[in-house]
Amino acid sequence: MQNPLPSVAVHAARRARLAALLGNGVAIVPTAPERIRNRDAHYPYRYDSYFYYLTGFREPEAVLVLLGGDAPQSVLFCRGKNAEREIWDGYRYGPEAACAAFGVDAAYAIEELDARMPDFLADRPAVHVHLGADDAWDTRVLGWINAVRGRARSGVSAPQEIRDVRAPLDEMRLVKDEHELALMRRAGEISGAAHRRAMQAARPGATEYEIEAVLQHEFRRCGAQAPAYTPIVAGGANACVLHYVDNSAPLADGDLLLIDAGCELDGYASDITRTFPVNGRFSGPQRAVYELVLAAQAAAIAAVRPGALWNEPHDAAVKVLAQGFLDLGLLRGTLDAVLEQETYRQFYMHRTGHWLGLDVHDAGDYKAGGAWRELRPGMVLTVEPGCYIRPAPGVPEAYANIGVRIEDDVLVTAQGHDILSAGAPKGVAEIEALMRPARG
Ligand code: GLY
Ligand code: MN
Ligand code: MN
Repeated sequence: MQNPLPSVAVHAARRARLAALLGNGVAIVPTAPERIRNRDAHYPYRYDSYFYYLTGFREPEAVLVLLGGDAPQSVLFCRGKNAEREIWDGYRYGPEAACAAFGVDAAYAIEELDARMPDFLADRPAVHVHLGADDAWDTRVLGWINAVRGRARSGVSAPQEIRDVRAPLDEMRLVKDEHELALMRRAGEISGAAHRRAMQAARPGATEYEIEAVLQHEFRRCGAQAPAYTPIVAGGANACVLHYVDNSAPLADGDLLLIDAGCELDGYASDITRTFPVNGRFSGPQRAVYELVLAAQAAAIAAVRPGALWNEPHDAAVKVLAQGFLDLGLLRGTLDAVLEQETYRQFYMHRTGHWLGLDVHDAGDYKAGGAWRELRPGMVLTVEPGCYIRPAPGVPEAYANIGVRIEDDVLVTAQGHDILSAGAPKGVAEIEALMRPARG
């Protein structure tokens, strides 16, 4: 059973903010369904991020109905108490306890949803929902609206407008409150510690999955519920596969190991990448590429400050990388030509970051009115430049199959920025010193 008490007021305040944006409209926000993995085994359950943001409620089969207007109301539909099911599946709140524990105005059994929704939608100008994700849900919402229309002769009006509830919620989620930042700091600390342990555990002959297990052990040992995404543990050439998740190969002496892994703590993601030598010492070419990516990351992080545009960190990283690719002999020509023709994309083909929060690629637009949006205090983004050198004509042999990414989680502050993932070492000397004892 979760202990929701510390965050009840936080979730209530978020509901009040959303309600104020609804006018007299109604928002309907369901949580995520349980999903079958195979036959009768389920995937680990993960609630919907929007629903959780507004309620803190983690059980499946739940819907929040938020009524705007002069007297806003929050109504939770959830699973009823069920002595038999609780023997098998464990405690469930039931409407009465959920109403008290999560601070909503009313709660009902989920089975009552279809019967009650037409009343909630009567005489409301707009309904705010997430349409288009699930056909069955869309049909259900339209069914409720039609049920209200069916009462037209009794003088009731049905919502004339269907609006996307994600639009106001995405804007709210983009700027984190103190409750969220405390969780994200702790998630960053846990993941930072996990990366340190991974560095200490790596050695030639170990396997990628052993190192994955070390990461997972640290996540769970510290109380994080899950990885925020499937960890990437990629030795040698595997680091040049951007979404490598097999994590099945042995680690070879002389190779680098790229790890992209972060935990999820109470719904909040961390997202850290570190790259280091399996044997604890960078070779000359590895170090040259690594220092280049580190310099690109430093330039990008320096560009994170209030008022900067979203693309500024990316542009700063690209500029450093492009010059470095020329200096290393990976590309030929002038810096201007490499930037203009985007030939740097042979070795750096992704963008430098994304919003981070309840989702690893978090909610929120990157442009507003056609222009890159401005960074504001409370926003959290990743800064993750990389360099992936696949063998190709013109690529010096010494650099072939080197893949490096360095990724941190960065909070925009009033003064500039704060790195939430600083516990994971990234300086060459720092990494080599941490790995030295393991090398004997
Ligand atoms: N781990 C997902 C990402 O870096 O975007
Ligand atoms: Mn990322
Ligand atoms: Mn990542």
